Amino acid sequence: MGTTWSQMWPPTPTLTEKNLPSQTGKVFLITGGASGIGLALAHILYAAGDRVYIVGRSEANGSTAISSIQDAFLNLNLSDLSTIAPAVAAFQAKENHLHVLFNNAGVSLAPLGSTSAQSEELMMATNCLGPYLLTQLLLPSLVTAAQDPATPPHSVRVVWTSSIAVDTQAPVGGLDPADLAPAPTPAGAGSEEQQLGWYLKQSQQIKYAVSKLGNWYHAAALARQVGKQGVLSVTQNPGNLTTNLTQHMPRLVVLTVRPLLYESRYGAYTALWAGLSGELGEGDQGAYVVPWGRRHPQLRGNLVEACKSVEEGGKGRADGFAGGRSKRDVFAAGNKTYSVSQLPPNDRIPGINNSEPTPTSLKSLRS
Ligand SMILES: NC(=O)c1ccc[n+]([C@@H]2O[C@H](COP(=O)([O-])OP(=O)(O)OC[C@H]3O[C@@H](n4cnc5c(N)ncnc54)[C@H](OP(=O)(O)O)[C@@H]3O)[C@@H](O)[C@H]2O)c1
Ligand SMILES: *[C@@H]1O[C@H](CO)[C@@H](O)[C@H](O)[C@H]1NC(C)=O
Ligand SMILES: *[C@@H]1O[C@H](CO)[C@@H](O)[C@H](O)[C@H]1NC(C)=O
Ligand SMILES: *[C@@H]1O[C@H](CO)[C@@H](O)[C@H](O)[C@H]1NC(C)=O
Ligand SMILES: *[C@@H]1O[C@H](CO)[C@@H](O)[C@H](O)[C@H]1NC(C)=O
Ligand SMILES: *[C@@H]1O[C@H](CO)[C@@H](O)[C@H](O)[C@H]1NC(C)=O
Ligand SMILES: *[C@@H]1O[C@H](CO)[C@@H](O)[C@H](O)[C@H]1NC(C)=O
Repeated sequence: MGTTWSQMWPPTPTLTEKNLPSQTGKVFLITGGASGIGLALAHILYAAGDRVYIVGRSEANGSTAISSIQDAFLNLNLSDLSTIAPAVAAFQAKENHLHVLFNNAGVSLAPLGSTSAQSEELMMATNCLGPYLLTQLLLPSLVTAAQDPATPPHSVRVVWTSSIAVDTQAPVGGLDPADLAPAPTPAGAGSEEQQLGWYLKQSQQIKYAVSKLGNWYHAAALARQVGKQGVLSVTQNPGNLTTNLTQHMPRLVVLTVRPLLYESRYGAYTALWAGLSGELGEGDQGAYVVPWGRRHPQLRGNLVEACKSVEEGGKGRADGFAGGRSKRDVFAAGNKTYSVSQLPPNDRIPGINNSEPTPTSLKSLRS
């Protein structure tokens, strides 16, 4: 309860546009940078630097954001995996390095039954599958930046975006990746409903919470994948903010909670701290940041266990969810395998050990 309370009425932000040092020469990429928290963050970073890319799926909204902050827009729809590699190629044609990737875009409480272009449940697809693939494709740019002798240690980061819903609504013990798979039923037996796996049977609220736990899983697993190459991977709960994230909530609920919400720029401060604060270092791999920029004071122990690898004495659920360590691997969702041709071969990622065993893939949501 104390931890929930302090996430609702947080201390004053310590890193803001007022004391952010110059970011000239650093390359930032923000998904969902055309609205809400992402847009507020893009404004702050652009005022301090010169190379901010925002990623979105709507050229028109992107252009509006660009005309106000004059940055670069990459057109990409996280709920359509086929759009991701081309956007990354467009980015990599312009930049060799990427210093901070903010995986900020997300969708909450999508209407029941909403699916992605690849027929996956929309929140899992948009909040986890898309950002996972985007991040894997951007690893060469991140690792190249981290290994540049001019780059200060721990300044190359991937910031994932979780939510208070992880503290309040993620299942005890976290998500077991096996629960994404269809329920085991004898061939042909059971209605379509009975064949749904645990995840698809949950309310939209729980699905959102699980997808946001998935972002912490990604933070933890990526830290093990490229931490040794100098990339710091953390997640954050930006806070309770007034944004378009409430678009799928009933109007009455939105009106009721609105007085409890903060301006979106406060959420940008949380992300800014996670992405740029010098207070974070090697000991913060896989860390969880809370409003408006500090370490989570009281993580749920059973979720920490879920995030830890088996070698570290944990449950290895984050690794299982994210596809393990070497990412030579492919990830599968639905009955499709997506990334064989889309993922960069590991030999393009400096320092990655190609001999490590192929990890478990993300389990299918459906048969
Ligand atoms: N606001 C809060 O209180 C709160 C609390 C906890 C966590 N968060 C998290 O904070 C992040 C930012 O949300 P926000 O509050 O700033 O909400 P928002 O204003 O709705 O912004 C979400 C952003 O994600 C983008 N997006 C959604 N689906 C996408 C897709 N398929 N492909 C590409 N981009 C997509 C949206 O683009 P479009 O404009 O094209 O839809 C938008 O730019 C989310 O991950 C959310 O879960 C927010
Ligand atoms: C705000 O945070 C509290 C917990 O601190 C949470 O229960 C509530 O759902 C949040 N409200 C919104 C609108 O995000
Ligand atoms: C929500 O979207 C509308 C329409 O694009 C935009 O005008 C508004 O600024 C957005 N609100 C926030 C808080 O980002
Ligand atoms: C811009 O964003 C708003 C709010 O998310 C949405 O309603 C509108 O359709 C978007 N515009 C375009 C051209 O996609
Ligand atoms: C993104 O992809 C989803 C799933 O195919 C689709 O429903 C949506 O219309 C797309 N959005 C845009 C702006 O292209
Ligand atoms: C799985 O594959 C079969 C045959 O290839 C196809 O008919 C079916 O629609 C696919 N299911 C999903 C959820 O994509
Ligand atoms: C690469 O991984 C394999 C298998 O885990 C291990 O035997 C080998 O020592 C590793 N090589 C390096 C250079 O770390």
